[in-house]
Amino acid sequence: MIDITEVSSESGSLWYAEVGRHLPFVVQRIYYIIDVPEGAERGAHAHKALDQVLISVSGSFVVDLTDGVSKWSYTLNHPGKGLFLPAGIWRGLQHFSTKAICLVLASQTYDASDYIRDFDEFLAWKSK
Ligand code: TYD
Repeated sequence: MIDITEVSSESGSLWYAEVGRHLPFVVQRIYYIIDVPEGAERGAHAHKALDQVLISVSGSFVVDLTDGVSKWSYTLNHPGKGLFLPAGIWRGLQHFSTKAICLVLASQTYDASDYIRDFDEFLAWKSK
């Protein structure tokens, strides 16, 4: 988990993270996921080379992870916490609350060939 720094005032809260100080890679891309319907799931893939940080800017959601051997599950529900998700980890995102916003910081620009979307293929790739 990465701590993101808050600057709070009477007019609201600002959160920031800097490459080198908080973030373990140079951010090349950001995207965010919103309006996830109740019961819907996202993810269900791994990346070969892409590192990411996931932040719940609003609301909450659950991130289930596996490296093919161990499993981890994290509930992201605070803008001050970023989940570092290195390459080579299978992820599923579920249980999005109403108005949840999942902000993703990524180490590379979009590359469809970096995805592994089949779990058996992921296990075979991990055992290489
Ligand atoms: P995907 O990464 O599969 O989303 P999720 O893991 O949340 O289910 O991406 C969904 C679609 O969006 C897929 O067709 C690829 C496209 N996409 C881009 O074009 N650029 C991007 O930066 C991202 C993250 C996705």
